Amino acid sequence: MTTGRARAALPAPVIELVGREALAAATADRLLAGHRMVTLAGPGGVGKTVLALEVARRCRDRRAGTVAVAHLGDTTRPDELHREVVRAVGVNDQSCADPVDVLVDFLRGRELLLVLDNCEQILDAVGDLCSVLLEEAPGVRVLATSRQHLGIAGEHTALVPPLSVHADDAARSDAMCLLLRRAEAAGRRITADDDWGALAELVAWSSGLPLVLELVAVRLGGGMSPRQILDRLDGGRLLATRTRRVRPHHRTLEQTLDWSYGLCSAGQRRLLARISVFAGGFTLDTVEKVCSGNGIGEHEVLDLLADLVAQSLVQAGPDGRYHQLQPVREYGQRRLRAAGEEQGLRDAHSAFFRDLAGELATTWYSPDEVALLQRGYDEMPNFRAALHHCATTPGLAGLGLALLHDLARLRVQFFFAMLGEFRGWFRTLLDLTPVEPTPERIGATVQLGWTMLCQGSQHDAGVVLAQLRELVGDRDDVAPAVLLEGAYAMLVEGDPRCIGLLRRAVDLFAVMGPEYRGDRGNFKLIWALAAGFYGDEATGVAAAEDYLADARAAGGEWAISWALWARGLAPLRHGSPAEAVSWFRAGLEIQVGLREQWGSTWSAEAIGWALAGVAEHDGASSDLLETAAELLGAAVLMRAATGVAITGLVPFRREREKAHATVVARLGSARYQAAYDRGQALAGRDDVYALALRPEVRRTPPADVTLADLSPRQREVAVLVSQGHPNHEIARRLHLSVSTVENHLTAIFAKVSVTNRVELGTWVGAQNGLPRNGLPSPGLPQHDSPRHGPTPNGPAPR
Ligand SMILES: Nc1ncnc2c1ncn2[C@@H]1O[C@H](COP(=O)(O)OP(=O)(O)OP(=O)(O)O)[C@@H](O)[C@H]1O
Ligand SMILES: [Mg+2]
Repeated sequence: MTTGRARAALPAPVIELVGREALAAATADRLLAGHRMVTLAGPGGVGKTVLALEVARRCRDRRAGTVAVAHLGDTTRPDELHREVVRAVGVNDQSCADPVDVLVDFLRGRELLLVLDNCEQILDAVGDLCSVLLEEAPGVRVLATSRQHLGIAGEHTALVPPLSVHADDAARSDAMCLLLRRAEAAGRRITADDDWGALAELVAWSSGLPLVLELVAVRLGGGMSPRQILDRLDGGRLLATRTRRVRPHHRTLEQTLDWSYGLCSAGQRRLLARISVFAGGFTLDTVEKVCSGNGIGEHEVLDLLADLVAQSLVQAGPDGRYHQLQPVREYGQRRLRAAGEEQGLRDAHSAFFRDLAGELATTWYSPDEVALLQRGYDEMPNFRAALHHCATTPGLAGLGLALLHDLARLRVQFFFAMLGEFRGWFRTLLDLTPVEPTPERIGATVQLGWTMLCQGSQHDAGVVLAQLRELVGDRDDVAPAVLLEGAYAMLVEGDPRCIGLLRRAVDLFAVMGPEYRGDRGNFKLIWALAAGFYGDEATGVAAAEDYLADARAAGGEWAISWALWARGLAPLRHGSPAEAVSWFRAGLEIQVGLREQWGSTWSAEAIGWALAGVAEHDGASSDLLETAAELLGAAVLMRAATGVAITGLVPFRREREKAHATVVARLGSARYQAAYDRGQALAGRDDVYALALRPEVRRTPPADVTLADLSPRQREVAVLVSQGHPNHEIARRLHLSVSTVENHLTAIFAKVSVTNRVELGTWVGAQNGLPRNGLPSPGLPQHDSPRHGPTPNGPAPR
């Protein structure tokens, strides 16, 4: 089963490559013909990355196989390498397993081309990883780019030469072709009247290095003549001696960068050096904060950055983020070091990202939830760089821990499958900071324990809980500590007292400021899960509705999807599995829309439980039982991709076992197994979602419920819904908030046993003896879009 989310999709080509046709074709042929490991080797700026991407596109088009790209330019440690590759191939790994094992398990039996770009900093570890993958995953091919080859068995090294220069006929060379194209793109059309002799000299001097040609072309575009450029390159020695000394390519590139740098203003130079602290790109506002001061005014940054873009020293991406080519960034780093500014800049970078994490942690519980999660994810390379700096600089570990703590409060590690990485950072930074009962340390210890619980690592979570108890001592009013106690009781001990503990944690948090709204919301979710799994029906419903109302008022879609999941537990466990199906589906539909993979795995699983329940409860057809078994099979596989074993999560395991027993009792083991295997054989997540959302589950409204059973307010809402009014209109008419209307509808749907607005309309019509025109007209939308509140269907009255 594929994981769905392409973490590092192959970008569309942005430039037409010059002079690489033969090499691109030969490399693609070689890879497809059975050479499973090819390294494109060559000096910086020669064009390895763009060539590798071109080859990958050709392989993909010819084989229709998957391509994954991992950029390793910022990667210096083996564990970072492994996580980067895990992310690139799209494994949703939430486990504590060795990432190499996770990769091998995932890739075995798959056809995949893995592009590993910029391996030179971490050659040995890449070599080791590739050796394992080639050996154990026969469908995997690797295309690496590196300034040196890896030196492993089976590797074919293709040297990427500079573009042809043709000393005697420069005008026909690939290097000249690139120079002219780039000059034209920069606004300078070279004509017959130009100084072709000087141009030919320039091309010869470039040795055919594309990056050098690009930097020269920018200056042609800026109005310099070829001769002026020649005059200045190489400090003027070039024209004086006219020698054709053979220089190593990196020297040529370095000199070109020196020359480009020399042409920059003082402000541009400063900025070029300073932006080299960023990893994985940066945004304008970040540069304004991190790189200003000491010679650069914050208001100057925008213009200076635009100047650097115009000089091809920075690339502006379509997503509002800026990037730098590796050699340019490395050059900037050398300049920063030489200026004695590196430490200060790295400190400022860490401080900025610590603040950003704080801001994200306090604002995510809002309609911007998913956008803020995405921002957190986009900045992960910078967060990592900051964490690394804090972990390796005396006196900064505390700052790093605070940053990490806030980032985890955003839950970005769940949404984007980074539990293992966060667990590692928590361990590192907790080990580096004093064992004192500060809020950060307590919070971080709790998050470490919670991470372990979610991974099903019961033993390790127990050890962390013991450490937490020592840290907190006799105090029983420390909200996060009470939370971990409750979560441990729920997930490990299966102890119903978890409900009381978790409720207490919520209450303790309630008195904290608005900056803790998201944390409190999250605590409520955990409490609602406990109440759903262990409470009586009323307790389960009340807790879930409390959280659902909270999440709706906040407007975070992912939070709402989890609230709907929690809301399904009470009916699941107390005799209304058909209603449970609707709640779980309503959550799943949101998750599918968000292309989210953690919650949706659990939704598919829970729908399997509930369908089994429906079959048992209503004696429904064996089709439903088969679907339940298929979903259980599919969910196991989806969860395998997250690395989380359900055996470590007690109440989840119980529900699964119950569903399994129901299906086996009705269908027998053989049919169960066959259906289960069909579920496992589903091709992708989308097929699982379709399966989970497909079977119709009939719910008959209790005949004795009438309009009189609704409260006056509920009656008003029900009638307005039956007349086809959307929630915001009902809210306006009744002077209520939209979330209050939604809460009323939640209660009405449950009471009347309907799953959507149309069914409610029919029911109201029947109650009043209304003609059909009392029902929502076909032209009216049945449901508002999720952004405006209403859920597509299910009992969630959105
Ligand atoms: N054949 C080509 N045609 C046009 N432009 C090219 C070509 N090769 C490289 N370039 C351009 O030259 C620049 C450097 O290329 P690239 O980043 O691929 O180099 P690299 O060899 O990967 O460098 P590094 O070792 O630093 O990663 C890029 O801006 C790229 O677009
Ligand atoms: Mg490269």
